[in-house]
Amino acid sequence: RMPILEQCYNLMDFEAVARRVMKKTAWAYYSSGADDEITMRENHSAYHKIWFRPRVLVDVEKIDLSTTMLGSKVDIPFYVTATALGKLGNPEGEVILTRGARKHNVIQMIPTLASCSFDEIVDAKQGDQTQWLQLYVNKDRAITKRIVEHAEKRGCKGLFITVDAPQLGRREKDMRSKFSDVGSNVQDTGGDNVDRSQGAARAISSFIDPALSWKDIPWFLSITKMPILLKGVQRVEDVIRAIEAGVQGVVLSNHGGRQLDFARSGIEVLAEVMPVLRERGWENRIEIYVDGGVRRATDIIKALCLGATAVGIGRPFLYAMSAYGLPGVDRAMQLLKDEMEMNMRLIGCSKVEQLNPTLVDTRGLSLH
Ligand code: FNR
Repeated sequence: RMPILEQCYNLMDFEAVARRVMKKTAWAYYSSGADDEITMRENHSAYHKIWFRPRVLVDVEKIDLSTTMLGSKVDIPFYVTATALGKLGNPEGEVILTRGARKHNVIQMIPTLASCSFDEIVDAKQGDQTQWLQLYVNKDRAITKRIVEHAEKRGCKGLFITVDAPQLGRREKDMRSKFSDVGSNVQDTGGDNVDRSQGAARAISSFIDPALSWKDIPWFLSITKMPILLKGVQRVEDVIRAIEAGVQGVVLSNHGGRQLDFARSGIEVLAEVMPVLRERGWENRIEIYVDGGVRRATDIIKALCLGATAVGIGRPFLYAMSAYGLPGVDRAMQLLKDEMEMNMRLIGCSKVEQLNPTLVDTRGLSLH
């Protein structure tokens, strides 16, 4: 028998249920990683190489998980990252994530390739709820400019340009499932030329510009007042270059292991990046986010100890939404809050600002 929602006690439980209830093509698209999925597995297991050095005898009666991301106050330092094709998992699509994010006061990053239209997702927000836009850059810059200007007009508070996908990775599970129904919003955003024979990912990505380069960054800075961040940076040299280019942040990410297999995990890259930035006195020049494999509040805490502003979480909310709709997303977020409150207590920190590198032992990471 299928577990009821109350029997899901952690984020992995939602994945197990989703695997059983989702359509095969949808499961294949959400769950797949590139090639041998080594990076996808490493994303989570890298967190297992970091251990805590908790403080004791600290007053942890009251715990405050709140923090600020790109100027927006949130209740807990994670955001719902951009994942395409929400209606594969649930007929209502991304607006369910919007409502869940609202309830828990966290930020939603809207994907360029959402199943709902951009306006539907913005219309679903309430009050001063914060949304960001994830951008795939079109070969036709006029289209990209229109998308960016529209997002700014509709109140998006951050523009995350995906830089790790000049070509979509080979996700063989997805390719085998010969997915075909890409939906109308995706047709609109992606334009013509949709090749349906090689899975969902490839079907929707033909418009992405593989010629995108550092030379384009000044243009992006000139067309919007939204903070610009680069999503998918994977080495310290590029973080430095991003700072020099004048962007406001980076997401250390390998796209959930869906692009370059054998890319390192975001958390490992973070451990390499922060000491270099601190040496230059640049640690506050930009905001650094990490995504990939975050499944436990201890993962969030580890990333913050190492210097991340917050983490992005992708698949778990897709699975929760696919298995149980909004109540699933709600419970998944609540579980993370409960886990984080408890674990903050156990490592001896009452506030997010207190998290620092002395609280973790990273000797298990393969840093040189
Ligand atoms: C993604 N991701 C992604 N990223 C992006 O910039 N644009 C996109 O359209 C998508 N689409 C997408 C679909 C699906 C099904 C997944 C699982 C992921 C990557 C995403 O933003 C993020 O980097 C990873 O999902 C983080 O890893 P976890 O949390 O899924 O392990």
